[in-house]
Amino acid sequence: MSTDPLVVFTPSGKRGRFAIGTPVLTAARQLGVDLDSVCGGRGICSKCQISPGYGEFSKHGVTVHQDALSDWNAVEERYDQKRGLKPGRRLGCQAKIMGDVVIDVPPESQVHKQVVRKAASARVIEMDPATRLYFVEVEEADMHEPTGDFERLKRALKSQWEIDDIRADLSLLSKLQPVLRKGKFQVTVALHRGHADAAAQILEIWPGLHEGGLFGLAIDLGSTTVAAHLTDLETGEVKASSGIMNPQIRFGEDLMSRVSYSMMNPGGDKEMTAAVRDALNLLAEEIAKEAGIDAKLIVETVFVCNPVMHHLLLGIDPVELGQAPFALATSGSLTLGAKELDLTAVNPRAQVYVLPCIAGHVGADCAAVALSEEPGKSEDLALIVDVGTNAEILLGDKTRVLACSSPTGPAFEGAQISSGQRAAPGAIEAIRIDPVTKEPRFRVIGSDKWSDDDGFTEEVGDGGITGICGSGIIEAVAEMRMAGLLDDSGLIGSAAATGTARMIEDGRTHSYLVHDGSATGGPVITVTQGDIRAIQLAKSALYAGARLLMDERGVDKVDRVVLAGAFGAHISPLHAMVLGMIPDVPLDKVTSAGNAAGTGARIALCNVAARREIERVVGQITKVETAIEPKFQEHFVAANAIPHKTDPFPELAKIVTLPNPSFNTHGDGSDGGRRKRRRG
Ligand code: FES
Repeated sequence: MSTDPLVVFTPSGKRGRFAIGTPVLTAARQLGVDLDSVCGGRGICSKCQISPGYGEFSKHGVTVHQDALSDWNAVEERYDQKRGLKPGRRLGCQAKIMGDVVIDVPPESQVHKQVVRKAASARVIEMDPATRLYFVEVEEADMHEPTGDFERLKRALKSQWEIDDIRADLSLLSKLQPVLRKGKFQVTVALHRGHADAAAQILEIWPGLHEGGLFGLAIDLGSTTVAAHLTDLETGEVKASSGIMNPQIRFGEDLMSRVSYSMMNPGGDKEMTAAVRDALNLLAEEIAKEAGIDAKLIVETVFVCNPVMHHLLLGIDPVELGQAPFALATSGSLTLGAKELDLTAVNPRAQVYVLPCIAGHVGADCAAVALSEEPGKSEDLALIVDVGTNAEILLGDKTRVLACSSPTGPAFEGAQISSGQRAAPGAIEAIRIDPVTKEPRFRVIGSDKWSDDDGFTEEVGDGGITGICGSGIIEAVAEMRMAGLLDDSGLIGSAAATGTARMIEDGRTHSYLVHDGSATGGPVITVTQGDIRAIQLAKSALYAGARLLMDERGVDKVDRVVLAGAFGAHISPLHAMVLGMIPDVPLDKVTSAGNAAGTGARIALCNVAARREIERVVGQITKVETAIEPKFQEHFVAANAIPHKTDPFPELAKIVTLPNPSFNTHGDGSDGGRRKRRRG
């Protein structure tokens, strides 16, 4: 048996015997222990920090003596004096094994560190970015060995990091020589290794050891808003998150109106492409400023977006997406240079990855939700709904996943609602109606108090109540239904029929008065019959999409519902179910996933293998096209009732007894209203 010292690494538990004098970093590499190094063991990057343990480790059968590692050396001393090392830490490339030892690799020294998401779900992101830093010492130029500087840099990367097949574009080559000489032939390169292409590309080069970090942007490019997370590509930490309105709104509120703009106006698609690219540059600059970093350190950008935004970002006319068979120019993922998308704010050689689209109406944003929520790994049947202007819906478990999108329109975002507004301070976001007195109480964004709490008026005041946002209108409609102010067909009752003066006559229909701020110059906030109709259209589209997927799967119930999207995070599950937005499940089976599309973008940014994974998963998802499916219309009509005309809601019935008034004065079951279908 070898008498060489035994080395045990934690937390991995990997162990092996090594000759006395072996550097800890070398032992770690040989065992495949995840210990970071940018400088390749030269004692200058400090990425290889370790914590040796001393004493008795009965679990590992090891006793570690104080002299188990070589003495603290001059390199460590210099680093400690310049930067400071935490007590008990050593540099793994300097400390040598002298006896049996247990060595802990702290999370910050692991290359594949796990980043825990802040969201409710426990999913962690394992760091394995496509672009990494490598420090190399390049042989100096020699007249007798006439090779190019780039060739010697490649040779250094091969011998010091075992990386072969390296490319660099002309703009990088043009700065190579001065940088090499400035760094005395010691340089750090940012090397991008894509998941699909064997060749590695040098994206940036710095003299000496680059310590300014490397960053990436995960961008959720929505029709209404563009949200970005600036992420540290070494630690996975989100340094700043920011969002701006999509400037394409001036060409059309919803996606189809943007497609029409492109159809009606020659060159309209180019205008929209330029507008969104300008906005992305602005966003990149602003977010870098907010995080206090140089935007040129952004070397990667990942995009998730719906198909129309996908095409407009790429500079492809979306006209084919406006008509059957809704053909995408390309549905596969894309790896591009940022320059090709005119993203000039970031590093000129930055790489862009665009997630694959699922179908002509089911975009890369839905693929990102699938990456984040992993329905294909679910034991039970999960329905995942990302609510926006279009609802993207996934239904599946580990046997099969289906996807569709459904044209809900902007009502859930407070648009097309008489007192509607975006979720912003002053918007009513929650509302309760007393079933006996029919009096409302509500909460507005910006205050935790309910309107009947002491101090509400002082805190919010009349001027502080400005309208109703999406979650508020959903609650308002559901509460009206629970309080008997609305019948199952969606008709609002009169003051006489409901017994409350809050029902105001509004032509041939009625409205419910939520708040009257007119005495102090504030708004009069009501829920009108038109508002109810707009919400009915939206919720019917959502429910019909879900039902279509359930039909395809051959089920009439699901095990759980996940509400994704920023909006999904604010929807009350009870109210969504009273409204019949989502299928009947026990309330504790309705969860919120937060911004799952944005999370999917972050995962693809931080972990290059996830890109391969989502490309594989998307290939296996069954796409269901709602626009050409006759059953969709049938489901849509049946879903118009609140909660539903024919589907029973047994779980809902266990917790709520809905009153059953009828306010139909036409006697024919209709209200004279018109229903139309729309694709948002
Ligand atoms: Fe860079 Fe140890 S590997 S300091």
